[in-house]
Amino acid sequence: MDLDIDDPGHRHLFHIPPAEGGDHPEVAYFAGNSLGLQPKATRVELMEDLAEWARLGVEGHLDAARPWLPYHELLTAPAARLVGALPSEVVVMNSLTVNLHLLMVSFYRPAGRRTRIVIEDAAFPSDSYAVRSQARFHGLDPDETVVRLKPRDGEDTLRTEDVLDAVTDEVALVMLGGVNYLTGELMDIAAITAEARKRGAVVGWDLAHAAGNVPLNLHEAGADFAAWCSYKYLNSGPGALAGVFVHERHHGDDGLNRFEGWWSTEPATRFEMTPTSRPPRSADAWQVSNPPIFAMGPVRTSLRIFDEVGMPALRERSLRLTGYLRGLFDEVVATRPLSVLTPREPERHGCQLSVRLHEGNAGALTKRLRFEHGVIADARQPDVIRFAPVPLYSTYEDCRRAADALAACVEEIR
Ligand SMILES: Cc1ncc(COP(=O)(O)O)c(C=O)c1O
Repeated sequence: MDLDIDDPGHRHLFHIPPAEGGDHPEVAYFAGNSLGLQPKATRVELMEDLAEWARLGVEGHLDAARPWLPYHELLTAPAARLVGALPSEVVVMNSLTVNLHLLMVSFYRPAGRRTRIVIEDAAFPSDSYAVRSQARFHGLDPDETVVRLKPRDGEDTLRTEDVLDAVTDEVALVMLGGVNYLTGELMDIAAITAEARKRGAVVGWDLAHAAGNVPLNLHEAGADFAAWCSYKYLNSGPGALAGVFVHERHHGDDGLNRFEGWWSTEPATRFEMTPTSRPPRSADAWQVSNPPIFAMGPVRTSLRIFDEVGMPALRERSLRLTGYLRGLFDEVVATRPLSVLTPREPERHGCQLSVRLHEGNAGALTKRLRFEHGVIADARQPDVIRFAPVPLYSTYEDCRRAADALAACVEEIR
């Protein structure tokens, strides 16, 4: 396809799975918003780290080519560039929901009337469970404490002004998805952060669907905290380590609660084996355990690709690719019981387009797309199918295949 010749992306850096159905040898992969594809460099570099363990045993902590003791620091600067933060504001550790909990230990401090937590009604269930359990942890009733934001009647996504209207003087914490997992809506992170903070709330972002998808500027936006996973757009493998951002104004704040372990203390005195910690003035203070090197390797490899390609270039290609898919979907949904939920304005979406089925079952349709057409999308039951053309590796031809497959699987309205 000419478009793919003119605007090729970086597909050659990735393993593209073979198709199990349809006429093409490779799948048209639209599930990078769920699990990104494997960079070819990942296995090579992981094997290098494994070889160092075989060669050095415990001495690898200091003597490995990439020594394990400071290994996590290799990830810090590229992760900070990805989310628009200072290196001191970012650390890669744990998994996403664990990090949200560790951050809420510090930043959800219900007091007096200010107890509520604002989330999207369409928040990912893990976030919903996390905030409800945090409310219970503070002895509060989750049904009263958690405020769930719903779109207006007849609308599919949230308006910034409605989000802000919900931030009353009873709200302690606003914790939203930067890009919503279901609808693909990109929130106005800067505006919501600034105004909600002005109203006295703490503002945290779940960037699972935003990191590596859209340019981010967390430091300047002034977010209190954020967390994201690395298995979606960051292509670091199933269950990959997650990232954390803590704004520098909170570093060294002894008034914050923080759950600590030996990696919360500054590295220079870590092995003095003292009974009390000396936390560094950085996001590293939120670390607890010594990090898993072979889980950090794939994140390191992947972040290098983002550094090499650059988020601005990726975003430009993303808008072209998703714009192309949108045009094709517009034609398909015009005559079928389908609609696209994702906002149309470029500043209100990332790469994902979410299609709602007005009849039928999303799971069954997704299976047909896969086994009859070699198109991998994912179903969010009962009625949404998500398609994410990923600018690093998806093609215009993939988009054409997705639209043709959807048209073939859903009958036109007569
Ligand atoms: C928005 C969002 N939050 C939280 C999670 C849960 O992540 P984890 O299982 O890595 O904690 C996901 C997983 O897909 C997600 O999409």
